[in-house]
Amino acid sequence: MSSRQLFVTTALPYANGHFHIGHIMEYIQADIWVRAQRMLGHAVYFVGADDAHGAPIMIAAEKVGKTPQQFVADISAGRQQYLDGFHIAFDNWHSTDGPENHALAKEIYLELKAQGLITTKSIEQFFDPEKSMFLPDRFIKGECPKCGAHDQYGDSCEQCGAVYNPTELKNPRSTLSGATPELKTSEHYFFKLSDPRCLSFLQQWTQDGKLQSEVANKVREWLVPNELGESGLGDWDISRDAPYFGIEIPDAPGKYFYVWLDAPIGYLASLKNYFDKGGPLSLGDSRSFEQYMSDEKVEQYHFIGKDITYFHTLFWPATLHFSHRKTPTNVFVHGFITVSGEKMSKSRGTGIDPLKYLSLGMNPEWMRYYIAAKLNAKVEDLDFNPEDFVARVNADLIGKFINIASRSAGFISKRFEHKIGSLSQEGLALVQHLQQSAPHIASGFEQREFGKVLRDIMLLADRVNEYVDTHKPWELAKHQDQATPLHQVCSACLESFRLLSLYLKPVLPKLVEEVERFLKISPLDFSSAQTLLGQGHAIGVYQHLMQRVDPLLMGKLFEPSPDVVHAATGPHPSALVPGGTPIESVIGMDDFSKVDLRIALITACEAVAGSTKLLRLSLDVGEDQARQVFSGIAAHYKPEDLVGKLTVMVANLAPRKMKFGVSEGMVLAASHENENEHPGVFVLSPWPGAKPGMRIR
Ligand code: 2FM
Ligand code: ZN
Repeated sequence: MSSRQLFVTTALPYANGHFHIGHIMEYIQADIWVRAQRMLGHAVYFVGADDAHGAPIMIAAEKVGKTPQQFVADISAGRQQYLDGFHIAFDNWHSTDGPENHALAKEIYLELKAQGLITTKSIEQFFDPEKSMFLPDRFIKGECPKCGAHDQYGDSCEQCGAVYNPTELKNPRSTLSGATPELKTSEHYFFKLSDPRCLSFLQQWTQDGKLQSEVANKVREWLVPNELGESGLGDWDISRDAPYFGIEIPDAPGKYFYVWLDAPIGYLASLKNYFDKGGPLSLGDSRSFEQYMSDEKVEQYHFIGKDITYFHTLFWPATLHFSHRKTPTNVFVHGFITVSGEKMSKSRGTGIDPLKYLSLGMNPEWMRYYIAAKLNAKVEDLDFNPEDFVARVNADLIGKFINIASRSAGFISKRFEHKIGSLSQEGLALVQHLQQSAPHIASGFEQREFGKVLRDIMLLADRVNEYVDTHKPWELAKHQDQATPLHQVCSACLESFRLLSLYLKPVLPKLVEEVERFLKISPLDFSSAQTLLGQGHAIGVYQHLMQRVDPLLMGKLFEPSPDVVHAATGPHPSALVPGGTPIESVIGMDDFSKVDLRIALITACEAVAGSTKLLRLSLDVGEDQARQVFSGIAAHYKPEDLVGKLTVMVANLAPRKMKFGVSEGMVLAASHENENEHPGVFVLSPWPGAKPGMRIR
């Protein structure tokens, strides 16, 4: 077996939400492929990371009063329970905000620049005067320029499907502050993809036969010149202006790389982090990251969803090629997961919550098997159907596979001192048939035709079950003089069971570990397909290896009520969350006591000229001087209604410099996460008797 060296990644998830079933599906697909490659004797490094940067994460962090770094770290801390839970074995998990990625992104950019592939242009964009920042399209709403529908995003209309520039919206507003955005010019950095060198490289790279045919066809459409004969590829805007959570562009103060420039570089950064931590060294690979990546034999594969094909088949290979790096050997694109034919929606709760699945005690290998059984190498969507799930897992895994062991192991133990016996001619022929299937099955895994592989394995299991049904060991066991045929039949069953376990191992790694313990054998891989347990081999005591799926569990899985207690490692999305946001992760008293909350008397209050949102409040918290606090409640309270009232403020919040002055604290108010559907902002007020300056504890 010639050993290949493979570097494998899955798409890096944005660090502003927990994993949903779509992530888990992709990771299971890649994990199965990686395990199969390793079982073929190939050396694989399999890495992931959090995609940490970008405006949405920066804004989400600000909303909950965290630094983006803290926000991302909190999300990241919740990752492992999903990965362990579904037996997804990345060698490393890192972050695109790690120092490796900062360094690599800058290095790559400077190499592109040295190639003459970076240019700058002035861009006119919407700017939020209250937030003092340029607005990404999805933070601008207004009326659709085509159909007039209200409340449409800055890039496209959900009503009529029109696609437009945010500047075309009627009555645009910033969803961050409510302010009317202003047009402002700024200089942006571009990757010159329109350069003929890029086009010619990409035409070659995307059309040389490696990509899935649907992907290659799609990409061809993107590369076709327009009516004016211009390259289908425009220059790519790779910069964003401060404030932005990202990587600073060298020699360009206040400019950051657009998140999609540094995100895929995060693949390399995670691998580098793994090398620098000594991961490969502990496996006997003493090369540096740089040596590994410059080894021509190393193959690089990315598993991704179809929505990010453009980035991975155009921008990413071009970025790598023109910075003199290895380009991906291939990009494996999969479709989306639907549930009972419906696109899943977290807000409507029709998706499958992976943690709920696990906390209901559902076996992760049922899910791995079901997903694998529905996957192929095409870009097709995969439907999770609850009835089909129950039927498939019970029929295949229990009815066909596990059954072979449970029907034969007891006899071997009780009647033959746990020892495997000789095989009859027919038994040997059956086992050899299974053995001969090994190359075909291995190649099915390699081709990512998992559904087909599992169908083929189940056909083999059918053959074994037919053999059992023909020879009826339970009947043979009734007759003392049939000990030899009984021993032969049960031995053929267990030899077959071992081979089926080997073939299923990439999909069911934990179950097969149990099988290896039960059969008392060393870890199975494809090189063990041509061997046998052999006559005289003693097995262990059979214990039931897998339960059937109870259909009632499916009802529980799709019940909308959050009646499952999740491990408290982070906020968890759920269909029914109080006030529209999940309860934050558990904190101790020491964390709580860091927030100094005080009763405050509103001694004065006025509108702020130039802002529709803010009120300026003077607050007496029992100090010598009043505090000035700006609060975004102008749409909900008149100044005169607030003066003379008591409220609650955060008294030790770092002062914040705003356009209209310094805000020296924060007044507490309640609102629903989705203010559009649940309007209202409610300022807190204490019960009678509280005095300014009293601490809230
Ligand atoms: O679409 C997404 O979820 C992105 N965070 C994927 C990034 S993949 C890679 F480029 F990092
Ligand atoms: Zn419209």
